[in-house]
Amino acid sequence: MQKKFFQVAIDGPVAAGKGTAAKKVALALKFLYVDTGAMYRAATWLLMAKKMAIDAAHEAELLEVLDKVDFGLVNQTDEAGNFFTQVLLDGRDVSSLIRTPQIDANVSTTATLPLVRAMLVAKQQALASANSVVMEGRDIGTKVLPAADVKFFLTASLEVRASRRFATLALSHPEMTLQDVRAQILERDRIDTHRATDPLVKADDAILVDTSDDSIEETVAKMLSVIHQKLPVA
Ligand code: DC
Repeated sequence: MQKKFFQVAIDGPVAAGKGTAAKKVALALKFLYVDTGAMYRAATWLLMAKKMAIDAAHEAELLEVLDKVDFGLVNQTDEAGNFFTQVLLDGRDVSSLIRTPQIDANVSTTATLPLVRAMLVAKQQALASANSVVMEGRDIGTKVLPAADVKFFLTASLEVRASRRFATLALSHPEMTLQDVRAQILERDRIDTHRATDPLVKADDAILVDTSDDSIEETVAKMLSVIHQKLPVA
């Protein structure tokens, strides 16, 4: 891919802090923030809503459905000043519908399907060929943007990641215990790192950032200082 725009790639496991950090970095740089996990989540939501079997044997049918739908990612700021991505499927806002434990439990399976991945990767590359981006996911530095200007691999201990995810789910899903959340994270990590197509792995040239003991401000400051050294002087 011909590169005219600046690309920041951020990968890492579930609840490593990628989303929060990526949004703040994108805001600071005035780059487009792209949450690729939201695309896999939206695809999963649609296929589940249509009661389709999400597995390799049915991949052609799944692809046919996904091919017909328009995926929209629109960055917004709410009244409290919080930056978030609105996820639209053919214009319908599915932002909150894609962040449930049911989608959490199924999205890693959707993400194992090579043809589904190829379709979403092409959409992600198209966004990066028309905008400077901060793109977060699992395969951004290795597959989607292998020539990214800066690559980060964010991680944190399992306990820290489970507590973060538990805190996010506490209000909407009080039935989930910390143990449930921890088990689900382990299972998603297992599927994401062991799948045959574009598994979650740190790119050789990615900078490892452990967010276990850092505040979000510290993490973002570290990332911005690396990026500023690489940005072309205006
Ligand atoms: O970042 P997230 O939890 O919203 O991602 C949801 C799932 O999507 C994750 O379990 C793996 C998959 N995913 C992927 O395989 N590749 C990406 N670039 C982004 C997400």
